[in-house]
Amino acid sequence: MNKKIKTQYEKKINLINKYNEFYYNKSNSLVSDKEYDDLKKEILNLERKYKILINKNSISNLVGHKPSKNFKKISHKAPMLSLSNAYDEQDLINFEKKIINFLSADKNFKINYSAEPKIDGISASLTYINGNFTTGLSRGDGKEGEDITANLATIIDIPKQILSSDFPKEIDVRGEVYIQNSDFKNLKNNFANPRNAASGSLRQKNPLDTKKIPLKFIAYTFGFQKGLKINTQTEYLKKLNEWGFKTNPLNKSISGIKNLIKNYLSIENQRANLDFDIDGIVYKINDFDLQKRLGNVANAPRWAIAHKFSSNKAISQIIDIDIQIGRTGALTPVAKIKPINIGGVVVSNATLHNEDEIERKDIRVGDSVTVERAGDVIPHILSVDLNKRSKKSIKFNFPKKCPSCGSQTIKEFNKLTKKIDAVRRCSSEGYLCDKISIEKLKHFVSKEAFNIDGLGKKIIELFWKLNLIKYPYDIFKLDYSKIEKLEGWGKTSIENLKYSINQKKNISLERFIYALGIRHIGLENAKLLSRHFISFVGLQNFYKTKNYNELLSIDGIGETQVNSIKRFFVNDTNVKVLNELGKVLIIKNVSIKQKSGFLSNKSFLVTGKLNGISRAEVKSLIEENSGTTLSSVSNKLNYLIIGDKPTKRKIETAKELKIKIINQDEFLHMLNKST
Ligand code: IVH
Repeated sequence: MNKKIKTQYEKKINLINKYNEFYYNKSNSLVSDKEYDDLKKEILNLERKYKILINKNSISNLVGHKPSKNFKKISHKAPMLSLSNAYDEQDLINFEKKIINFLSADKNFKINYSAEPKIDGISASLTYINGNFTTGLSRGDGKEGEDITANLATIIDIPKQILSSDFPKEIDVRGEVYIQNSDFKNLKNNFANPRNAASGSLRQKNPLDTKKIPLKFIAYTFGFQKGLKINTQTEYLKKLNEWGFKTNPLNKSISGIKNLIKNYLSIENQRANLDFDIDGIVYKINDFDLQKRLGNVANAPRWAIAHKFSSNKAISQIIDIDIQIGRTGALTPVAKIKPINIGGVVVSNATLHNEDEIERKDIRVGDSVTVERAGDVIPHILSVDLNKRSKKSIKFNFPKKCPSCGSQTIKEFNKLTKKIDAVRRCSSEGYLCDKISIEKLKHFVSKEAFNIDGLGKKIIELFWKLNLIKYPYDIFKLDYSKIEKLEGWGKTSIENLKYSINQKKNISLERFIYALGIRHIGLENAKLLSRHFISFVGLQNFYKTKNYNELLSIDGIGETQVNSIKRFFVNDTNVKVLNELGKVLIIKNVSIKQKSGFLSNKSFLVTGKLNGISRAEVKSLIEENSGTTLSSVSNKLNYLIIGDKPTKRKIETAKELKIKIINQDEFLHMLNKST
């Protein structure tokens, strides 16, 4: 990327920051809305085009408005505490034991708890003086919160005046601001989960922006108070209702750890059906006198604990089982589940891997299942709760014919493992099966292949349905006059599409081979093959001479790959696709350069999710600079790049091996040095 673009981009960023600062913090608009939006669009376009520009301050990463830092800070009259956590029965037993010891009570002393689902939202403290809502604060650091009174006042669930005679003279009513899942679904924004959306809307400088979001409030405790005549938490919750606050309908009063666990499991089972996200159950000793005696440790009360749900697992229900067909014909069953928030991400699909997996776990439509989402992997089903299975439930019948083209499906014999494959495949020849064709086209335009901007999966599906694109070469012969007539397509979007397609007519041989979608030929193998063929003509000569075995001499190419390549080229359609593409594309010859890039002799591995840049792009950036990427942590590795939610083991091993651990910014910095 050239320097001019970078300077241009930075200028625009500075300008928008200035506008934001004036608008949100000084309530003063320096430009018209249109000018502001145009500038924002220009920045987004640059970021989209030059991904390297994206950093944590990028517009692409800012969702909604930038929250103001200028809320007035006000001290909480009583600190807003947090809670210690329990994860299993033993933690609860220890919690109760400690309390009994602290109180020097008899070990059979029966403790009664208020068990309250822990809503995952944003806590707020509402001060009422003489029945009037006067101040609303965020939690802040627990001692000092931000004055977000005006924003909180937009929430319908928050009473503005309470006239009940038993309402205390002064009280800080505390609870959780959140967004219901059903409302979150309808929000047109980019927030990852309802909690982020609630937090973002609550911190808007302009309360009118907050008002647009359907925020809810549930009350559950109090801070400072004068004149509260109540003895237990359960009574307090009841009073809150009488005073006009909402409380959680699933709150319960419970004694005995066994009963706490029963309630916990029952609520965990209902979790997928609730309209609000919860991440555990809070247990509070019901009796206020006991609470007072127990007091606090550090910043958490001794009389309460949060029993957390395991963060990456959740119980949901299978609504349906879909069979997806991949570009290599593999039939992958996918469970459509009732949407559930697992560790901050709303999950509605879980892979069932293959036919054998369904058989082994006897997974059926309607089953109540435990779903796990770990790291970057696709969510999957851990287990089925057979006790919950309806008597009417029937075994899932895996299709023996391809659901798309009706061809026989087959399970291949794997020569290496000497076993029959777990994966069932459509036996049709590539482009004869509609679903396979579409998947092949999606692969063709994908990031690592032709990387055509504006020709995403949805558009490919649409153009395929409309007969505009059936084979990859159709992409380069598109009839734009037909597209112009489609809804949502204007002159500019057509120009943009034309531009990005034309731009990609220049392609490296390596990407071209990868884009063909030959089974077992991934990026690495495509690169090896391109170095062998050197040019498109080299590739054409190769399949004409049918000397497939010559490929075995390439280090890294084995029998599996060669057989797959053979199968690819015996298919006339594949050959036609290749030749037609050859006529419209400019396929660059491979030039094998001496490695002298900035990252030469340096190897990298990424763990965790990076911000605004894909793994594929990082890999290509590394390679462009003569570095290499490795797939596991070993002493061959020089740098481990860590993103969000990295794999702990990788970090530990890297530390043991004294490998340099860097973050995304540090990595990008290394690259910047090279431009
Ligand atoms: S009581 C002194 N009750 O959990 C006890 N908190 O980690 C402190 N929360 O910041 C709060 N539901 O945001 C309490 N029923 C409930 C709750 C609850 C959710 C949140 C709250 C607090 C955090 C504590």
